[in-house]
Amino acid sequence: MLNNKKDYSHIGILSAMPEEVGIILDNLKNAKSYKFGDFELFSGYINIDSSKEIFVTTAWSGWGKVSAARATTRLLSTDYHLPIDFILFTGVAGGINKRLKQWDVILADSLIQHDMDARPLFDKYVIPSINQKKIYPCHYLLENVFNNLKNNLINDDFSKFGSLYKGLIGTGDMFISNNNKINNLLKEIPELYAVEMEGAAFAQVAFQEKVDWLVMRVISDTANSNASNDFEDFLKEYKLNSFALIKSFLEVLKNK
Ligand code: ADE
Repeated sequence: MLNNKKDYSHIGILSAMPEEVGIILDNLKNAKSYKFGDFELFSGYINIDSSKEIFVTTAWSGWGKVSAARATTRLLSTDYHLPIDFILFTGVAGGINKRLKQWDVILADSLIQHDMDARPLFDKYVIPSINQKKIYPCHYLLENVFNNLKNNLINDDFSKFGSLYKGLIGTGDMFISNNNKINNLLKEIPELYAVEMEGAAFAQVAFQEKVDWLVMRVISDTANSNASNDFEDFLKEYKLNSFALIKSFLEVLKNK
């Protein structure tokens, strides 16, 4: 049970790629779309179980920090019949921490833009507009979702997925596929768990717009020289299994 004071009524879900949100679209009832240039938002209801449904708006942002920031801003500023009160960025990530394996799930307990460097005016990694290096989701919300999702992953039919972790996710405009890059990142940010290309941009917008948010990723590769092959093979399987995870996440949010 999510023991949160808020009952979220409209959930925004973004991913970078159509493969990551396609299956959500297939499950939206009474879907309605909003088009902005080459970006499209899709709203509708998702059945969590036979008695519960939840209003969701979803889209794929495209890769990278600019695309993620643009999509998050559009997601939050579109005029719906219900205002958005929680947003999630989900999809795949490269595991950097040695414990992480393909299919492990990680909830970000913080995010950093590992390619941000405005020295000498700011310390390395400080995002000037918020004057901090890391962006943190609501601690209470994170703990509740983590504990409940952990139970769901054990109890339900989640054979594909591995262990659930929480940790620091690093975001940058680069696909990481070599050990030197991993070692350089870990030398400077030893607590880094995983890397991807959108989460910290999404988190920055959510933080500045004062909306509740989380980032949840599934490990597709370990950012080494085999990363691009692992990533492509993984995506095909991920497409078939991701909805179960997203549905479980929604169930946790809605089960008050
Ligand atoms: N997303 C999934 N795998 C990744 C990697 N190795 N680098 C950056 N983003 C990723």
